[in-house]
Amino acid sequence: MKILIINGPNLNLLGKREKTIYGESSFEDYFKELQSEFSAIDFEYYQSNVEGELINKLHEVGFSYDAIIMNAGAYTHTSIGIGDAIAGIETPVIEVHISNVYAREEYRHQSLMAKNCVGIIAGMGLNSYRLAVLHFLSLNK
Ligand code: DQA
Repeated sequence: MKILIINGPNLNLLGKREKTIYGESSFEDYFKELQSEFSAIDFEYYQSNVEGELINKLHEVGFSYDAIIMNAGAYTHTSIGIGDAIAGIETPVIEVHISNVYAREEYRHQSLMAKNCVGIIAGMGLNSYRLAVLHFLSLNK
């Protein structure tokens, strides 16, 4: 099973950025944990701060990978292009957020990608990604 995890803008700063909201761990360290916990899964990780690069990556893998787990960061709330890219590919996408976006500023309550995703997991810290993996795994049994 091939799963791509995509992180959008500013998520390269995890572990350094607003630690009270996003925690102390870098994504690279967490990604290693996921790889050893789910050794049967072929994981890939991609991060970009650039909207068009995120869209290109969705196009690149969206007809061959089994699943995508995407935290589009702030683009979640603004990007019609990312929402359209998810609608245009075949690979199912789960939207994830580290923080509970619904407990934060009102502009974070809107997602322009959610309606094209399988579902949303928010507010579970980095565990949001693990829960998305478990969902895709449960479908493959
Ligand atoms: C985030 C929530 C977004 O509102 C924010 O812009 C982020 C991170 C999260 O994982 O909680 O960059 O997607």
